[in-house]
Amino acid sequence: MRSVTCTAPVNIAVIKYWGKRDEKLILPLNDSISFTLSQDQMCATTAVSISPTFTEDKFWLNGKEESLENPRVQNCLKEVRRRASKRKFEGSDEDFLSWHVHICSANNFPTAAGLASSAAGYACLVFALGQVYGVEGDLSSVARQGSGSACRSIYGGLVRWHKGELEDGTDSVARPIASADHFPDLRVIICVANAGRKKVGSTEGMKRTVQTSRLMQHRVKESVLLRLDAIMEAIKEKDWSSFCDLTMADSNEMHAVCQDTFPPCVYMNDTSHSVSSLVHQYNDIKESQGSFSQKVCYTFDAGPNACLFVPGVVIDEFMTLLLRAFPPSASQNMNDYVRGHQTQTMPVSQAYLSLLDDECQAGQLKFIVHTKVGEGPRVLDDSATLLDAETGMPKVTNDSA
Ligand code: DP6
Repeated sequence: MRSVTCTAPVNIAVIKYWGKRDEKLILPLNDSISFTLSQDQMCATTAVSISPTFTEDKFWLNGKEESLENPRVQNCLKEVRRRASKRKFEGSDEDFLSWHVHICSANNFPTAAGLASSAAGYACLVFALGQVYGVEGDLSSVARQGSGSACRSIYGGLVRWHKGELEDGTDSVARPIASADHFPDLRVIICVANAGRKKVGSTEGMKRTVQTSRLMQHRVKESVLLRLDAIMEAIKEKDWSSFCDLTMADSNEMHAVCQDTFPPCVYMNDTSHSVSSLVHQYNDIKESQGSFSQKVCYTFDAGPNACLFVPGVVIDEFMTLLLRAFPPSASQNMNDYVRGHQTQTMPVSQAYLSLLDDECQAGQLKFIVHTKVGEGPRVLDDSATLLDAETGMPKVTNDSA
């Protein structure tokens, strides 16, 4: 039996992928740029085993057996096997490619958070398959076929997914553009909003946008291209203030094209707007003080949760304010409310306190995750595997769930 267990990170786009030019190959209409997040707070874990004794391919997700019929999983599996068939396994004549595979995946994301898990999940699956079959080279174009945004989770730090020009999608790949500490001591604050009913998923939402939104044509032909150039320049120059403005503008534009979609896709809610307005007001004060490097920015994916990027130098101040504006509900204690890194409450000046409007109430957020920017997928040692080394079956199952 050959086995490997890997972990892969979540990524959050600052220039968004929204809209495909090819649904089947998952080719985007524009380049996108993201931060890969630390795996200490959130990651996917996947164990892959191949063995001549396995009688069929099997897949378990979060302890429950799932069908392997899913065409996106199949495409990833096929492509890794195809690449593996092009190389010889070192030191062995055995025909690994004819062996069946057992795949066991789990996310350590806080349950019911509504946080996108598919990017980390597919990046992890593809990375682990690559390891077990000994496939070398870039795997981002394989992960892309699982879920578009997954291709960016193959690398750490700041990553750019190039949309590519070729029809077969072979040049639609992700590449790292800056290390995880490029903007030093950057904190990532995810505000998990207490959401209502389930919204339209990304795949369906972006399809509808491409079909119906005229504003989307303007985004793809003009505004996102200008913003991509500008943010690359801001990254090169380490111009945090411009980086923040461009990140917020792109999130706002994505949600504007969602709103312009017919019927509209509405992802942000009142809480999302309250968080975004707090950030703008905070930044106004920073700008008036000339403290441009202390600005904060937000971005929203296809849901109401805000993802904030906060310079470490102001994290205590900003969190003090955020927790005053969005305190936990009466039944929640602070340790459960803020997960991950801890911050110190500190006295804040009247200028900041006056930003807190009366509408902010306890319980608008379910909880907050405090994490950092991080590295790409990792291989774990054998003791951490999810699959039993003898039987190749999951160590923990949840089949009765
Ligand atoms: C809003 O990668 O989930 O998070 O390719 O159809 O699986 P599919 O979509 P997905 O879309 C993510 C969209 C986004 C923005 C982004 O991550 O760039």
